[in-house]
Amino acid sequence: MKTIKAVKVKLGYGNKVVLTDIDLEVSGGEFISIIGPSGVGKTTLLMAINGNVKIFDGEMSVLNHNLRTIGNTDLKSIRARIGVIFQGYHLVKRLNVLDNVAGGMLRKMNSLQAAIKYYRHDQYELIYGYMRAVRLENEALQRCDRLSGGQMQRVAIARALAQEPEIILADEPISSLDPISATGVMDTLARINKEYGLTVIANLHQLEYARRYSRRIIGMNKGRIIYDGKPEALDDATVARIYQGERAGEVEPSLEFPLPAAARVAVYNA
Ligand SMILES: Nc1ncnc2c1ncn2[C@@H]1O[C@H](COP(=O)(O)OP(=O)(O)OP(=O)(O)O)[C@@H](O)[C@H]1O
Ligand SMILES: [Mg+2]
Repeated sequence: MKTIKAVKVKLGYGNKVVLTDIDLEVSGGEFISIIGPSGVGKTTLLMAINGNVKIFDGEMSVLNHNLRTIGNTDLKSIRARIGVIFQGYHLVKRLNVLDNVAGGMLRKMNSLQAAIKYYRHDQYELIYGYMRAVRLENEALQRCDRLSGGQMQRVAIARALAQEPEIILADEPISSLDPISATGVMDTLARINKEYGLTVIANLHQLEYARRYSRRIIGMNKGRIIYDGKPEALDDATVARIYQGERAGEVEPSLEFPLPAAARVAVYNA
């Protein structure tokens, strides 16, 4: 059975179709990058896997559940088996690293334990293991608002690990980071993919990171998958087709990722 399987799926929000003709099969333990210009539907595809997007047509199953017929209880249970990481980290910044990581285990704690942040010895051991996995065990008691962006993203990865997920969905995990921090975060994702055997699917704006870290790249344009294969088979002509339509003037100023200086000037002078 595949971890994710989509056959001719049409997806979107309300009455709006965003993705068309999506065929996708993902096996356990893959490391996949999704690339494409802004607005083509990369986040929508990730959120569809998490059961957050409307299916208009076709079939889609995630972790052996058919998303078209799934009930609320099963939907909750598959979401618990999927860890999600965002560009903006979504940490509780005034809490320390340890408590943020423990946040991923909340479902396995009683409410008093969670409220007073009292962890049993075996839970501490697990939390320590997750902090070690992201190389932050020495920062355990550091408040998250004192950390660098790369460290914060690694806390978010450890918190997702604490959920004991089977799939990690990472939506632009490195878009706000400098190259050294970005490499640290991608190395961390690669390590947990290997050591924990987790399926990792990441939306990336940086083609070079997609090539370097994933064994499979999905290229999207205008709501369709137009490339699905190995990084080494992704040639320049296909890259050009994937990024067709991405021009500085089309980038919205509200987007958080660091724009190239030229694009920023173009946007703010517009
Ligand atoms: N909640 C929503 N309701 C309605 N339309 C939405 C919603 N979220 C996204 N869309 C629309 O879906 C389309 C695809 O958006 P999506 O965020 O998936 O693109 P993206 O490839 O992730 O872009 P970016 O690289 O800028 O993050 C866009 O036209 C967007 O306006
Ligand atoms: Mg997006």
